[in-house]
Amino acid sequence: MDVQKAFSISPRQFATSGTVMVRPLLLKPQWMNGLSERLLVSHYEIDYGGALRRLNAIRARLADLDWARTPTFAINGLKREELMAASSVILHEIYFESLGGHGDNPPTGLDEPPAGLAQALAREFGSVRAWRAEFTAMAKALAGGSGWVILAWSERLGRLVNQWAADHAHGLAGAAPILALDMYEHAYHLDFGAKAAAYVDQVMANLNWERIGARYRMAIGEGAGEDELFLPFGAPPQAEARISAEELKAALENDAERRPVLLDLCLPRDLPRRADMLAGARMHVPAALPVWIEKLPRDRPIAVYCICGFQVSGRAVTELRRRGYDARALVGGITAWHAIGGATVPLDTSTYEEAP
Ligand SMILES: [Fe+2]
Repeated sequence: MDVQKAFSISPRQFATSGTVMVRPLLLKPQWMNGLSERLLVSHYEIDYGGALRRLNAIRARLADLDWARTPTFAINGLKREELMAASSVILHEIYFESLGGHGDNPPTGLDEPPAGLAQALAREFGSVRAWRAEFTAMAKALAGGSGWVILAWSERLGRLVNQWAADHAHGLAGAAPILALDMYEHAYHLDFGAKAAAYVDQVMANLNWERIGARYRMAIGEGAGEDELFLPFGAPPQAEARISAEELKAALENDAERRPVLLDLCLPRDLPRRADMLAGARMHVPAALPVWIEKLPRDRPIAVYCICGFQVSGRAVTELRRRGYDARALVGGITAWHAIGGATVPLDTSTYEEAP
């Protein structure tokens, strides 16, 4: 496949052009605890994706800027917008990655912080319960306004702090966010209307403390082997079996012989969740693999996608590669594709098999 580099789950994600790459949803949006798929996906694709697209557009503009001739007001505006877009991207990623169940299981609402983080919260706030009371009160106090509430590790202060942020660019200097709670209205209005306090309680019942704990360990310099926690459940573990949305977009611009063949896999129960697809993709039932695999070329790269890039595309890619096909799973699925502004066409189910 004509792509420059495999997707990395490291926080440093840049395509070769310097583009800041999308991070996939790690939560299963259809199985969350009192937060709807419609809310989460629109927030991810439109608001997070919008910030990411804005950031890359500003970076492209800055790369071509003649610094000596550009008016100061234009420099001020671009650099201010760049900071806000970049912080919005990073905080949204921390927000979404802090939510979700474990493996294939929905969040239970009963999760507690892992031992190291629990001890730090108890040391600095009195108890985990006291930390939670402060953090949620701060979030609820932003009802009717907007901003972020952030749990951050400050190396300088030598402690975890709960921090209010009036906008995306209002972080405690030098502190590393561990958990971020989005209090912009777009984060809750679809499900909760003006009931911001109910939204805050529901977010707290969806926290993935395993990943928040990993973020804490990385912030204090004790992180090790955390990468797999930040890979979508069921995605192929080998980097060469995955393709990022940005890499796929570039590969689809190749001439016809080198362009990847696109496979859209969807479980029958998930069909009602779908409205569109990538142009030129063929849609199949995953379980009908013995039927549709016969039509796949062996001399072309194959890009497989599903809704969010979990086990539906992951399992198929593993099987295709086992049979010798050059197949890769789209990281983050069509949801990540939407977030980068990738073009789609209306769903075509004419190639979709009857469920076996
Ligand atoms: Fe947001």
